Amino acid sequence: MFCGLQLNLSLIVNSMHIFITGIAGFLGANLADYYISKGYEVSGCDNLVGGTLDNLDNKEIKFYKANCENLEEMKPIMKNVDVVIHAAAYPHEGLSSFSPFLICKSNFIGSVSVFTASVQNNCILFLNGKIWRCKSSIY
Ligand SMILES: NC(=O)c1ccc[n+]([C@@H]2O[C@H](COP(=O)([O-])OP(=O)(O)OC[C@H]3O[C@@H](n4cnc5c(N)ncnc54)[C@H](O)[C@@H]3O)[C@@H](O)[C@H]2O)c1
Repeated sequence: MFCGLQLNLSLIVNSMHIFITGIAGFLGANLADYYISKGYEVSGCDNLVGGTLDNLDNKEIKFYKANCENLEEMKPIMKNVDVVIHAAAYPHEGLSSFSPFLICKSNFIGSVSVFTASVQNNCILFLNGKIWRCKSSIY
């Protein structure tokens, strides 16, 4: 399920803080529920351009409204995070044909920013929820 992202993270360390970008979207919200059910601390961010807070009904999930493209916004909210799952994206099939720069900016700059914040905050694992390309969404 979810392309193998439902890893048994207890194999790595017992108590962990997992941070999910795009947490109000389909993939992020389902992963958040899954990891909460496994007893992990879960927080995440979303700029709500596509997702909705209705997807986050579990009160244990800490939510930040933030844009992944903004490194200065990401660094403080990713402090003390062990694992980062980067699922924020404009995944809509076909949109990139009409707005290639919008999609590239969001997916590429967003990914570099989240990766940089992960490195600066000494996160132990970074999982990218996507392989992206400019023409259309690819899972
Ligand atoms: N849905 C799946 O089963 C699946 C499986 C494997 C990989 N993926 C990949 O995972 C990613 C997410 O897929 P999804 O189905 O959850 O899409 P989604 O649209 O439901 O969720 C993406 C979320 O990212 C948020 N977002 C977009 N740009 C952002 C930004 N700059 N900063 C913060 N948040 C931002 C959106 O608001 C949205 O909530 C996509 O790249 C997709 O290709 C999805």
